[in-house]
Amino acid sequence: MFYKLNKLQIVLFGLTLLLVACNSNTTKQYPSEGEPVLFAEHIAPIIRKNCSKCHNEEGGAPFNLYNFEQVASKGKLIQYVTENRIMPPWPADPNYTHFANETYLTDEEIALIGRWVKEGNQPGYTASLTDYIPPTKNINGTFSKLIKIPTPFEIKGDNQDRFYVVKFPIELGSDTFLKAVEFVPHQKKLVHHMNAHLINYEENAKSDLHKGNYFIRQDQSESMRIHQDLNLTNDDGTYPAMTPSVCNYLPGSQFSFYPHGIGGYRIHKKAALYLNDIHFGPSAKDELDSSYFRLYFDTNAPTRPVSEFQLGTLGLSPVEPKLVIEPNTIKTFHIQFTVPLDISIVSIVPHMHLIGKKFLAYAIKPSGDTIRLIHIPSWDFRWQYFYMPKKMLPIPRGSTIYVEGIYDNTENNPNNPFSPPRLISEKNGSMKTTDEMFQLILSYVKYQKGDEEIELEE
Ligand code: HEC
Repeated sequence: MFYKLNKLQIVLFGLTLLLVACNSNTTKQYPSEGEPVLFAEHIAPIIRKNCSKCHNEEGGAPFNLYNFEQVASKGKLIQYVTENRIMPPWPADPNYTHFANETYLTDEEIALIGRWVKEGNQPGYTASLTDYIPPTKNINGTFSKLIKIPTPFEIKGDNQDRFYVVKFPIELGSDTFLKAVEFVPHQKKLVHHMNAHLINYEENAKSDLHKGNYFIRQDQSESMRIHQDLNLTNDDGTYPAMTPSVCNYLPGSQFSFYPHGIGGYRIHKKAALYLNDIHFGPSAKDELDSSYFRLYFDTNAPTRPVSEFQLGTLGLSPVEPKLVIEPNTIKTFHIQFTVPLDISIVSIVPHMHLIGKKFLAYAIKPSGDTIRLIHIPSWDFRWQYFYMPKKMLPIPRGSTIYVEGIYDNTENNPNNPFSPPRLISEKNGSMKTTDEMFQLILSYVKYQKGDEEIELEE
């Protein structure tokens, strides 16, 4: 029986090779009518491309999906979540723009998964499958270092939001370069967002990086005292140099870095990551959180540093009208911004909170042509990505960026945090999820000729 099975598998494997050979110009293999749908041959490539990057030991999803047993045991549920387009989560409208890190199933792929489940989850020649390696473990030419703090964050089970200001000291053998900084959230259900900046200390400017607190609660400390409490200053009381926004994290977002020497930072022997804000959502029971960072080193200096335009709430240009959404209303808001130099966009980050419904952004060039940026037809607070265009996206100086956001503060919005609805608004830059925000963050490099040909796809 065992022998026979193997023989059958070998035959099937041969058949697959043949199919691969015949269809070498297409990447997807579909069984013909009457042929069985098999995991190894037909389903695994779809799952590994669209699901495994979150559904692995390191990813944000609650269980793993890359091997036959893992996928087969959840077959019916997978059929349901794919047919209803709940998974993979991809809020951006693929009919408007495509992105490098896109995870989106075609109708054919969804139908194939459904057929595979109906036919009883057949394995196919699973021995032909390679081991699955999570994308973060597969980064070439870089060495990573973990940066942790000795005490975990305490999150009391009192259903309150918590905002911390934090210092992660970094000690290295010598000055070097960073390709990227990755944030690894521990309590994934509780970590809401995080912004980290890099502080570089000059030689002999700082004797003890560990003096002072590692973190303090933002809402319990006067902002004037934060730098003293964390002891961020040089020994003589002056301020060290800071590189802003070296790492940001939002719900559902995944780590990736730019190719071709784009991005990256100089880092000194003595340095620190300074989090002006890490936000933990409310918890019903006491929890400890030990989120940490990974540093990815680079031997070369970055050739094209990345900057950002933050538009809307707390940004360079205001939300119009003021972001106030009365109860039982659906309301539209706008942001407008004129780009002051020739840029190439490398990532697009839309941001709203719970009652956001729709997000649209595009640019109009001085010539009158439109450059599409992003359209999210039904906003979902849980999935907020750093959308990377497939190729660098040039926007000429003098173009105007238009952003439109629709908020639904009615009873019909299942994500409304209040029942009955209450007045919801932007409050003094409050980042509480039950207050609102409306932002577009564009990361860019200065334009160089030929940028439009540079792929950002890994
Ligand atoms: C961006 C990360 C991400 C990707 C990509 C992703 N998932 Fe998920 N998935 C999650 C998270 C996180 C959860 C936990 C539930 C939640 O937060 O909605 C989840 C939950 C699920 C569930 C459980 C749903 C339930 O109701 O219990 C299934 C089944 C699932 N995913 C299947 C898939 C499949 C199949 C794919 C690919 C076609 C996929 N996921 C792609 C992150 C992801």
